Amino acid sequence: MSIRVLVNGAAGRMGQTTVQFIHTDKTLDLVGETNGKDDLKKSILATKADIVIDFTNAIAVYENTKKIILAGAHPVIGTSGLLPEQIKELQQLCAEKNLGGIIAPNFCIGALLMMRFSEQAAQYECEIIETHHENKLDAPSATAIKTAELINSARKKPPSVKKVHETLSGVRGANKNQIPIHSLRLPGFLAKQDIVFGHLGGNLVIAHETIDRNAYMPGVLLACKKVMSLKKLVYGLETFL
Ligand SMILES: NC(=O)c1ccc[n+]([C@@H]2O[C@H](COP(=O)([O-])OP(=O)(O)OC[C@H]3O[C@@H](n4cnc5c(N)ncnc54)[C@H](O)[C@@H]3O)[C@@H](O)[C@H]2O)c1
Repeated sequence: MSIRVLVNGAAGRMGQTTVQFIHTDKTLDLVGETNGKDDLKKSILATKADIVIDFTNAIAVYENTKKIILAGAHPVIGTSGLLPEQIKELQQLCAEKNLGGIIAPNFCIGALLMMRFSEQAAQYECEIIETHHENKLDAPSATAIKTAELINSARKKPPSVKKVHETLSGVRGANKNQIPIHSLRLPGFLAKQDIVFGHLGGNLVIAHETIDRNAYMPGVLLACKKVMSLKKLVYGLETFL
């Protein structure tokens, strides 16, 4: 039996790619497409959607996810911008309802490997440079935050980062777990991340670039299949790899 999927944010860039992809996959059945003006809860109930994939924006995603859970559908959340305390609340809500779902900062499996390899170099001092297209609303990217968290957890002790006197405020980037993050927003890019590690006498750069939104689709499919039998809301697609 195919999985009934509703795409929220269907008219957006990721939404359109997702809709096209669902049409090509026999295991998924597209039962609804919603956007900002639609009543999400009503649409979920009317379509009897098993899963709602959300690719909207940082302002709407928290309320959307709550609506999806309360309507009893499995949330597959690709939208970035959820705060750690919001993720905790949503996980609690899913746990109360015994409902499986996922919040995935990055559905691209190549990008997940980039994060995994970065954990292996965690003992070195590092900085993250994330570059996205000029229309991305939030910064830093959820992937950059997740990468910093993973590197931090893999460290035995944090490296000693030296203070510099900033003659231009913010020049050393944002700070997450003692890891500077620099966000670039430029035309000519979709999504790119470099993790630059420095060690005595040399450096190592682990880099990943997404050049087409189809790169996210195998991960979206994997998430849709896995959440159906899950009883909690997980954070990060690596949970399933
Ligand atoms: N997890 C991943 O792998 C991944 C990959 C790429 C992008 N993203 C994230 O996905 C999100 C969407 O990216 P995009 O490039 O498609 O953006 P976009 O601006 O092209 O599309 C967003 C769509 O959501 C709609 N929308 C806005 N508010 C809404 C609401 N309340 N309810 C329903 N629809 C609403 C907009 O009208 C628009 O059509 C961003 O947060 C982006 O960072 C995640």
